[in-house]
Order: sequence, then structure tokens, then C-alpha cells
Amino acid sequence: MILRMRETLAPFKVRIFIISNLFMSDPIVCQKFPMVQNVEPGDYWWCSCGKSATQPFCDGSHKGSSFAPVKVTMDGAKTAAWCACKHSQNKPFCDGSHSRLP
Ligand code: FES
Repeated sequence: MILRMRETLAPFKVRIFIISNLFMSDPIVCQKFPMVQNVEPGDYWWCSCGKSATQPFCDGSHKGSSFAPVKVTMDGAKTAAWCACKHSQNKPFCDGSHSRLP
């Protein structure tokens, strides 16, 4: 009897796993401190999902999720502290929220 229930539930569990990956609600924390860089004037696309291999910038890894990159236009050469924990309330820049993450 127990075995039959497991067989019945197993495919359902797999479906739940796939759906949760497609619509993940929490970004991946790359690191719990900002990425500080000197940047030149121009447009930048900050990664909001945390899956990009070219942090802190988007490489398209968010496709199929609910995340989208954030466009930033720098009008002059600056030092930027990009949020790498992906939880800042001042995206794409660090606001110290990383210090409150578990
Ligand atoms: S790295 Fe500081 S708020 Fe995300």
C-alpha cells in the first residue's frame, strides 16, 4: 500500500520541482558583499537573477525565469559598488542589505 502511494506521488513531485525552477522567486546570492569596479560611461545590464557567469552583468542566464536584467546608463567614469547579493533595495547598487541576509 505504501509503495503504491509513492509510485503515484513520484511524477507529481517532479512536476513541482520543474515549475519552481521556471518561476524562482528568490535570486541566487553570488556573494555577500558588493562588486566594486571603475566603470566607463555607457550602458550596463546588471544581472538580477544571480545566475550569470559574467557577474555583475547579465549573460542571458535568466531566460525562462521571472527575472530580467536592469539597465544602467553611466554618464561619466565612476566607481560603482554593484550589488552581488541581489537583495539590495537600491538595485543595481549595494545598499548594505547583504549584511542582513542569513
Ligand atoms: S551586495 Fe550589498 S546589498 Fe547586495
